[in-house]
Amino acid sequence: MYELEKVLEFLRENLDEFRYGHSIRVMETAVELAHIHGVDDKKAEMAGILHDSGKWKSREKTLQKVQDWGIILSEEERAEYNLVHGALSTYIAKNIFGIEEEDVLNAIKNHITGRPAMSDLEKIVYIADMIEPARNYEFIDDFRAMAKVDLDRTMYEILNENLAHLIRNDRYIAGTSLEARNYYLKITKQGEIK
Ligand SMILES: [Fe+2]
Ligand SMILES: [Fe+2]
Repeated sequence: MYELEKVLEFLRENLDEFRYGHSIRVMETAVELAHIHGVDDKKAEMAGILHDSGKWKSREKTLQKVQDWGIILSEEERAEYNLVHGALSTYIAKNIFGIEEEDVLNAIKNHITGRPAMSDLEKIVYIADMIEPARNYEFIDDFRAMAKVDLDRTMYEILNENLAHLIRNDRYIAGTSLEARNYYLKITKQGEIK
């Protein structure tokens, strides 16, 4: 069963120090955004603290867990290692901590790529991951302010930022991220698009 203390113990044991701190900061940021936007704060806590729980210190250990637990990876997850921890973290939330709420599991699963038509909880976790206090990049203060007032607009801006970063660094872009970006373009810029 889910208990925050038990999750913290699990994370302390398996994640490196930075990732452990990051998980706590994302949880706190997600809970703060949940309060502002009227989302269940317990769900924000669960999804926030567990979102990176499948990020073991080494790639070998991570891939070993995929095998041990018989997790079937999608074609994209097989092609891009960074996507693998979404499936693993979701597995951990469900099978180790007994979380059944679909919305919480979706927020964990989709925190890397985003997707079209996300729930408010999913948006909050995606955004919290990108604006937690230790993150630092151009425009982050704008995103922090925007996240308090408009989740859709913030999704659009942060998806753009992430895609630009991936392109600049010759990194793989998941199809879902592009779909998400176009979806939030359409709903935030309605009427402005030529
Ligand atoms: Fe992640
Ligand atoms: Fe993260």
